[in-house]
Amino acid sequence: MLEYKLASGYTMPALGLGTWQLRGQTCIEAVRTALDLGYNHLDTADAYGNHDAIRQALQGHDPDEIFITTKVRRNDLRHDDVLAMGERALSELGIDRLDLLLIHWPNERIPVSETLSAMAELVEQGKVRSIGVSNFTIRHLEEALPVAEVPIAVNQVKYHPYHNQQDLLDYCKDNDIVVTAYSPFGNGDLIDDPELQRIAAKNDRSLPQIVLRWLVAKGLVVIPKSANPDHIAANMQIFDWELDEEDVQAIEALGRR
Ligand SMILES: NC(=O)c1ccc[n+]([C@@H]2O[C@H](COP(=O)([O-])OP(=O)(O)OC[C@H]3O[C@@H](n4cnc5c(N)ncnc54)[C@H](OP(=O)(O)O)[C@@H]3O)[C@@H](O)[C@H]2O)c1
Repeated sequence: MLEYKLASGYTMPALGLGTWQLRGQTCIEAVRTALDLGYNHLDTADAYGNHDAIRQALQGHDPDEIFITTKVRRNDLRHDDVLAMGERALSELGIDRLDLLLIHWPNERIPVSETLSAMAELVEQGKVRSIGVSNFTIRHLEEALPVAEVPIAVNQVKYHPYHNQQDLLDYCKDNDIVVTAYSPFGNGDLIDDPELQRIAAKNDRSLPQIVLRWLVAKGLVVIPKSANPDHIAANMQIFDWELDEEDVQAIEALGRR
């Protein structure tokens, strides 16, 4: 599986399973399916309410082999709340350290320096390996980067062919921040796009595979969500083939429409 080097020195798998809206038994089964198929990266958040289900799905797997991301809610960004959330997440997930802890959404009412400082303490304590942010614009990053005591390794943002944030991606690359694309299928909205269907047919691939391949080729991490075992398996088949330049340009054009 392709991996990206993070500014923290650790690596991050380019593909993970998104788990928003997966809860209870559905979540346990989807995560187990993914892990059995060879996924080694899970994306969750405190707000998803599924840490406990993920802990159950991890049973029988070595957690050291699986990259786990979770996120602090925007109302928990005060120093002590971040520390408490980090501790609680480890216990709910049944692990000793998180690979990546993200600020889920910026909160203008709480200084980002306070949040980042608490996250740096969790790194110092060995409870978190890398830290990052989510839903941060260039303006948010310009405020956060100068006050970060440990590198902001990742920015997780909405990124798909209709939401092609090239300026943000370029800014992140210039600042050694890996970008994770969330909602790669626009939470399902892209699945009927005729242009993407045409490219999929031309390449003898599924439309989701076309979108994921395009994102990974641009250097993004992808975290498609699925509860369907066939979809979970298909979403992995994106690493041993390429889109030609004409297809890449056609997908880029969708974002300019
Ligand atoms: N940081 C943030 O604020 C934020 C916000 C949103 C999402 N996220 C993260 O990003 C992850 C992915 O985004 P998302 O959940 O919004 O949606 P998504 O991954 O863009 O789309 C999920 C939808 O696509 C379907 N799907 C998945 N694979 C498919 C395939 N191969 N063929 C056909 N349909 C397929 C799924 O249905 P089936 O289940 O039936 O396959 C589901 O309806 C989330 O789960 C979460 O981890 C983060």
